[in-house]
Amino acid sequence: METNNNLFKEAYNLKIKHRGPKVYFRGLIEISNVCAKNCLYCGIRKGNPCVDRYVLPDNQVMESARFAIDAGYGSIALQGGERQDSEWVERIARLIREIKGLGGTSQPLGITLSLGEQSSEVFRYWKQAGADRYLLRIEASDEQLYSKIHPSGTKNHSYSTRLQALYDLKSAGYLLGTGVMIGLPYQTRANLDNDLKFFKELEVDMVGMGPYIPHELTPLGKLVAQWKQNMESTEFRGDFWNLSDKQLLNLSLEMVARLRCLMPHINIAATTALQVLDPLGREKAIMAGANVIMPNITVTEAKRNYNLYEGKPGLQDDAQATKDFLLKNLESVGAVVGWNERGDWR
Ligand code: 5AD
Ligand code: SF4
Repeated sequence: METNNNLFKEAYNLKIKHRGPKVYFRGLIEISNVCAKNCLYCGIRKGNPCVDRYVLPDNQVMESARFAIDAGYGSIALQGGERQDSEWVERIARLIREIKGLGGTSQPLGITLSLGEQSSEVFRYWKQAGADRYLLRIEASDEQLYSKIHPSGTKNHSYSTRLQALYDLKSAGYLLGTGVMIGLPYQTRANLDNDLKFFKELEVDMVGMGPYIPHELTPLGKLVAQWKQNMESTEFRGDFWNLSDKQLLNLSLEMVARLRCLMPHINIAATTALQVLDPLGREKAIMAGANVIMPNITVTEAKRNYNLYEGKPGLQDDAQATKDFLLKNLESVGAVVGWNERGDWR
């Protein structure tokens, strides 16, 4: 504990030195929970029949974007399940152009996309339409671990396809973000060390990483539940499968702080999943070196169904309530908000 507090302080000081005290907001719009994939950890995987699927209509996306402008957020992030059909590709391009054309700001909203793997042509097409950044987590940078948390034998769940997508995004000229889950079944300390090296080698501009939170209607969630029924097994389960919330929070904060020390200039998100472990989880991440928060601005009726993991916070709150709550908490840790700023590091 002692050493971590020192680490957190060092990371915080490095952030202040290289980036200043500001926290930047990206208003998160969960545009659709329809997904063609079946990641073994994810609550909205295609194979979960208990999800009410939705696709936000244009007017609701634009309403949220307008909210972001009025709230002074400076940027939005469009996040959704993975779809590659041409209707979807065209629709996203059109929405990007419309959002960029919204008035009432000194500069157009920054746009981050988080829409999964696409061909290099589609990445370029959306970039030309006006997108600025792309977030595609590697989820686990170790190929073996990656294959344990994804279905085997399908091209769209292959590690090499995902890696290629990251390279394609880079050459398409996006500010590139990636990330991992922390505390996965089978994951080891060495895996986490290598995740940090991976971010550095890829020279990413942003990282969003957060704790793995089991979801009971997923294969991995069921596996972890079984493991907890049978504590005595000698089977290899990794270093973290049975951490308490407090330990997992601490491990996640440690990763944030170590990353800040390794890459002092980049944008590091204080992710929503931290808030599942501790109501002040994101604020603690800010104190450990993170400088970006993604407040949910999805219309309230839809966001109930964007349930990646159990206990996802704020499902009932509207965008304004989410903002008020966050500001109060950020104030309590002395953070300064970069209103109306993009906050890109380059
Ligand atoms: N716990 C934590 N994060 C999850 N994600 C998906 N399922 C879970 C889970 N059970 C994360 C993935 C994905 C992002 C959109 O949500 O890392 O990239
Ligand atoms: Fe789909 Fe993303 Fe969930 Fe995988 S993690 S099932 S790609 S929404």
